[in-house]
Amino acid sequence: MNIALIGYGKMGKEVEQVAKGRGLTVSKVFDLHNNSGGVGLTGESLKKVDVCIEFSTPGVVIDNIAAVAGCGKNIVVGTTGWYDKLDQVKKIVKEHKIGFLYAPNFSLGINIFAQVVSHAAHLMDRYTQYDAAVMEHHHRGKVDSPSGTALTIASSILQGMKRKTEILSETSHGPIKSHQLHVASSRFGSVTGTHAVVFDSEADSIELVHTAKNRSGFALGAVVAAEWLKGKRGFYTMRDVITL
Ligand SMILES: NC(=O)c1ccc[n+]([C@@H]2O[C@H](COP(=O)([O-])OP(=O)(O)OC[C@H]3O[C@@H](n4cnc5c(N)ncnc54)[C@H](OP(=O)(O)O)[C@@H]3O)[C@@H](O)[C@H]2O)c1
Repeated sequence: MNIALIGYGKMGKEVEQVAKGRGLTVSKVFDLHNNSGGVGLTGESLKKVDVCIEFSTPGVVIDNIAAVAGCGKNIVVGTTGWYDKLDQVKKIVKEHKIGFLYAPNFSLGINIFAQVVSHAAHLMDRYTQYDAAVMEHHHRGKVDSPSGTALTIASSILQGMKRKTEILSETSHGPIKSHQLHVASSRFGSVTGTHAVVFDSEADSIELVHTAKNRSGFALGAVVAAEWLKGKRGFYTMRDVITL
């Protein structure tokens, strides 16, 4: 299988290593120098490519998606920060009948974790003895807080536990109401990301914890997603890949 890397920064390079390790061929690499405004992505340059993997910047990702779709090629998108344009992208995907897959977090582990949490939340719904909370910590330089992943996990708890109807991600400065789901974030040092979900009752406590060790988990997830997307058409997320 042939892939093209669009964006050759920290993630692009990590994806290259993982892809080669899984026997894939990286036949093209695009960065700002050969692809300003998406001009490098043409029918000719993508001729041999089965799936493109995109980890670039929010300012250029939509141009890249449009250019790849114009060539009728499938694309996996890891770049974040463009989700206000999801409808526009869905339209592009439909119009050009390509396969498209995106995820704010490609880590296989975190996607499996999210499904475990979602299942646990459904189980907990009828046992009102149990309260729930989400906690996450990341290195002090992380730009967003709470993390997008923590909010996604919190939303899936809300879907499962009908008595939780509101995410509280700010400091409460008082008691937390029973319908609120607290998402607590801390930022310090150079720690790798940790997401934890706790279901707590007076009798006991169940903790589910995911700890990232490095970036290779994201890269592996993106490559697995590209393998899965080969030959498919339609709009997908990692939930479609990690399924029973
Ligand atoms: N979904 C996930 O699981 C996940 C995980 C980690 C990171 N991310 C996201 O992935 C993105 C990239 O992260 P990173 O750490 O790899 O960033 P990075 O090291 O800054 O790399 C960004 C790359 O984009 C390239 N680029 C800029 N304009 C381009 C264009 N028109 N066409 C092709 N490439 C272009 C840059 O090229 P030059 O070097 O030539 O400037 C650079 O190689 C970010 O949005 C980050 O939030 C997502």
